[in-house]
Amino acid sequence: MFTNRKARVVTIQQDVDLYQFNTFALHANAACFVGCESVEELLHLRDSAVVGTRPIVMLGGGSNILFADRVDEAIVRYLKRGMSVVDESAESVLVRFEAGERWHDCVAWAVSKGYGGMENMALIPGSIGASPIQNIGAYGREFKDVAHEVHYVDFEGAREVVLSAEDCAFAYRDSIFKSALKGKVAITAVVLRLQKHPAVHFAYKDVERELDERGIEQPGIHDVFNAVVAIRTRKLPDPIRLANAGSFFKNPVIDAGLADELKQRHETMPVFETDDTALRKIPAAWLIEQCGLKGYRRGAAGVYEHHALVLVNHGGATGSQMLALADEVIQRVEERFGIRLEKEVNIVGHA
Ligand code: FAD
Ligand code: EPU
Repeated sequence: MFTNRKARVVTIQQDVDLYQFNTFALHANAACFVGCESVEELLHLRDSAVVGTRPIVMLGGGSNILFADRVDEAIVRYLKRGMSVVDESAESVLVRFEAGERWHDCVAWAVSKGYGGMENMALIPGSIGASPIQNIGAYGREFKDVAHEVHYVDFEGAREVVLSAEDCAFAYRDSIFKSALKGKVAITAVVLRLQKHPAVHFAYKDVERELDERGIEQPGIHDVFNAVVAIRTRKLPDPIRLANAGSFFKNPVIDAGLADELKQRHETMPVFETDDTALRKIPAAWLIEQCGLKGYRRGAAGVYEHHALVLVNHGGATGSQMLALADEVIQRVEERFGIRLEKEVNIVGHA
């Protein structure tokens, strides 16, 4: 427990079960668990003897995290919410979202105001604070397409920093926060540039098909938002009913030559172009399904029966059991295709 200058007592809990804080519904014991509501509280975290020099892991909605059974790191939640327009022109608005906001609520707010840019990413679970970490993306758009600035507290320097989007090294499911700044910062807010007269993006096959089926020829951002919500609701398991963390693995990005070779041997393998003409993206779901693993179960840990890229906890699996299943999937895909899948989900703690 410590008191900040505004005299709010920040309670630090010890030995907290993280079950209700992760969408994989995993029980894990956190040695140290803190909820902060201001930048000042984050800056003074290390004053507490319990936090001390422990590594800090920030936790948002727990929808992209796998807790192994024991967690010695200090688990810190930043709960501040709020959204405000900080600048405006005839073309666009700059909106600041505090990290504790839910991503989807912000998308719905933007669409309700007619501000475009986030609608393809509707219904992605979790917080604004986590959105830059893996440069979240769906249906043809990524966080980087709307990002203007990321605000964070740097624990090492005990200072606040504003990083422009160009300096965040955003790439497919990657950013500076997963490399040079990993474990060193708490993201406190993001500033996004949203468009008042938005271009509408619906080239992604599923979105195009959904709009076609709805008879919509000239979609607006509301239409794309509704289509994405419908597709996602059908395709992905709702963590409340079946615990999961979305795609467990990244889609492998491989050399175009290797993709051609594989395509000759496996004619039905889907191959997608990337921004780099020398590289191709292969759907990990297809690779996993070809190994006969769709719907596979190893105790309570399983591969989702309707989408092979999603690992699910049927109830009562431990973090270690989920990891054992993930390792088996990686091994089987590598044996068959020579491609080593990389985990998208963040692993925290130990057995
Ligand atoms: P958490 O799981 O709590 O944390 C994720 C990572 O971010 C951890 O490393 C954590 O330490 C770090 N972190 C969290 N908050 C902060 C902060 N304030 N400062 C610094 N670091 C922080 N992702 C996509 O990209 N596209 C999708 O389409 C998609 N679909 C999904 C569907 C389902 C059903 C589920 C369960 C997940 C899906 N995801 C998707 C993954 C997930 O929703 C995103 O990665 C999301 O951004 C995670 O947010 P969170 O708040 O739950 O983060
Ligand atoms: N496919 C299979 N078997 C399956 C499912 C899919 O073979 O069981 C093949 C199909 O050929 C399909 C292709 O995989 O065309 C791609 O599938 P899908 O459109 O569902 O997308 P994905 O590549 O599996 C990615 C993201 C999702 C994001 C969707 C939509 C990654 C790791 N995942 O999934 O993000 O919502 O595209 O843009 O890039 C997440 O990150 O958690 C996530 C859910």
